Amino acid sequence: MEDLVNKVKSAYIHIPFCNTICSYCDFCKVYYKTNLIDSYLDNLSKEIDEYYKGEILDTIYIGGGTPSCLSIDKLNRLFNIIDKLKRSNNLEFTFECNPEDINEELLKLLKSWEINRLSIGVESFNKDILKILNRRYDIDISSKIDMCKKYFDNINIDLMYAIPSENLDILNNDIDAFIKLDVPHISTYSLIINKNTVMYNNHYKNIDDELDYEMYKLIIDKLSKYNYHHYEISNFSKIGYESKHNLTYWNNKYYYGFGVGASGYIDNIRYDNTRSITKYISGCYRLDSNKLSYNEEIENAFILGFRKIDGIDINDFKNRYGFNPKNIDIVKKLVKQNKLDVNEYNIKINNDYIYTSNDILCEFLAINYEIEKNENK
Ligand SMILES: C[S@@+](CC[C@H](N)C(=O)[O-])C[C@H]1O[C@@H](n2cnc3c(N)ncnc32)[C@H](O)[C@@H]1O
Ligand code: SF4
Repeated sequence: MEDLVNKVKSAYIHIPFCNTICSYCDFCKVYYKTNLIDSYLDNLSKEIDEYYKGEILDTIYIGGGTPSCLSIDKLNRLFNIIDKLKRSNNLEFTFECNPEDINEELLKLLKSWEINRLSIGVESFNKDILKILNRRYDIDISSKIDMCKKYFDNINIDLMYAIPSENLDILNNDIDAFIKLDVPHISTYSLIINKNTVMYNNHYKNIDDELDYEMYKLIIDKLSKYNYHHYEISNFSKIGYESKHNLTYWNNKYYYGFGVGASGYIDNIRYDNTRSITKYISGCYRLDSNKLSYNEEIENAFILGFRKIDGIDINDFKNRYGFNPKNIDIVKKLVKQNKLDVNEYNIKINNDYIYTSNDILCEFLAINYEIEKNENK
């Protein structure tokens, strides 16, 4: 049982190249430079050869950066490299695209390499917002999505909100426009202004917390009216279109991370790859790795699991960690306070507390789970 639970079934592959750099972006990315691509792909191939143990994967996710900015030639090289990853029959194979890169030739190529899910960074329809984000505002998103639908039905679009100067009317129009695109998955992101970004350096400030909360509520209200099932704090889908790959993370399951800046989690070890492209292409892939203690593993299981609106599967948890999470003191206390809901199968954060779930999650960090395990077997 344990072996089945722990086997690696997912891989994330990072392509760091971008044609332009967005004002808020703290991801591991570099400007597209033709002469870097081949050595990057050579090293990606070497990294996979060095670490991949031949497991059959259920999900592969190619993210970035902007994977879609590679030429057709380089994409063929990339897919030839990734071809050595073994796949199950029901593989979810996602590819991230920026709208401006979408064209028939790209979509046909992705289809021919068995990509079956697209994730597209739409972000907003509002020109002023897109200008602040330093993203293209001259793209006809609706016709791009129509083109994608000719080849793929499983499509995610990203929506960013809580951008400085944004108000509820702007967001409301954005949500309407997103709903109109009629795709089965929407990921939402409240803007984080990280250090070392153009936004931070230009002294942009976050909108106030109250407005952020109103925006979050508006998103949930509107999307649920259109049958988007709110299945994770920030993710919404039509039934059956939940992201299997991201559920790997939230279910605290193992996954490979390949490429510069990628992270992975295998055999209780969390590792981060270097964020330096120079180091990566000189063959130094790993930055650090850290074997998690039993306590850290359980903390992650709670913190990640509670991101899902249905929360933690009790049986799954019991099989994996050796005790019933329902029986531990902190869970009992939070159930009494109505902050957690519990039934025979799941423990979840009460919907009224989802927005402030961080306070609840902190309570799971100060516990000795070895003791809990012994007392609650
Ligand atoms: C992994 S990123 C990169 C994907 C792709 N390059 C793009 O820009 O669409 C995926 C999403 O994270 C979100 N994101 C990135 N940086 C963010 C930030 N600082 N705050 C909030 N959301 C962010 C954006 O919505 C973006 O589409
Ligand atoms: S947000 Fe996406 S496209 Fe923009 S710089 Fe970051 S990775 Fe590149």
